[in-house]
Amino acid sequence: MRQNPNHRLSGQTCIVTGANSGIGKEVAMAMGRDCANVVVNYVTDPVGAEEVAHQIETNDNIAKAIALKADVSREDQVQEMFRVAKQHFGTVDILVNNAGLQRDAPFHEMTLEQWQLVLDVNLTGQFLCSREAVREFLSRGKVDYSCAMGKIICMSSVHQVIPWAGHVNYAASKGGVELLMKSMAQELGPKGIRINSVAPGAIQTPINRDAWETPEALNDLMKLIPYNRIGQPADIGAVTVWLATDESDYIHGATIFVDGGMTLYPGFTTNG
Ligand code: BGC
Repeated sequence: MRQNPNHRLSGQTCIVTGANSGIGKEVAMAMGRDCANVVVNYVTDPVGAEEVAHQIETNDNIAKAIALKADVSREDQVQEMFRVAKQHFGTVDILVNNAGLQRDAPFHEMTLEQWQLVLDVNLTGQFLCSREAVREFLSRGKVDYSCAMGKIICMSSVHQVIPWAGHVNYAASKGGVELLMKSMAQELGPKGIRINSVAPGAIQTPINRDAWETPEALNDLMKLIPYNRIGQPADIGAVTVWLATDESDYIHGATIFVDGGMTLYPGFTTNG
């Protein structure tokens, strides 16, 4: 397993929501490789989350990890997760708002439940977790091991800018994440809290299996990706960790697109 000799996040504690699988799992592991203590949040998969926590501790004996269950869309559960995280690790320094889901449907068939669930988890969840993190940063104050008092990284999507037919709930939630992140950054930057987003394109995870599991689907997907490969969770993990380190200290209120050029609208290469 790749070890990071920099130990850039040593002594810091990170909560990664939805960290039992997919992008969140890799972000949690990458945080651990850079020696952060990690809270591996999950809602439905305790076995997967415990395994991620176990792997973090065995890959790198400096980092500690615990799996904590919380539905990010539930205020009481989010508050309890932060309470236990602080009890366990002393404070929280980094929040990665990663938990997210899709409930796709043609617009005229989309149920209120499908709309609401996606907005609750993808947008309200980021609000609730960010609010608890900010409360902790403000009450704890500045630290000597990080330039910022605290860091928040919101997992957005290329669909914060690319409209997505058949997925209006998801696109609306990610559009919301963009201005949630920017407005928090404007408000909280003066207090020393650094907030950014990562906007992944098509990353090979269970959420978009239909887009890559057959050669035909993958071929179609490549028409949307100028760099001509599907992304991997490690592509996102590396950028997310970097956004939590002092190396990126002057990046604030930004969205970093990690998408192989999907937002270059390659459909215009030979059209328009
Ligand atoms: C979605 C994936 C999709 C990708 C690119 C992501 O935000 O969750 O399902 O493949 O955007 O369209």
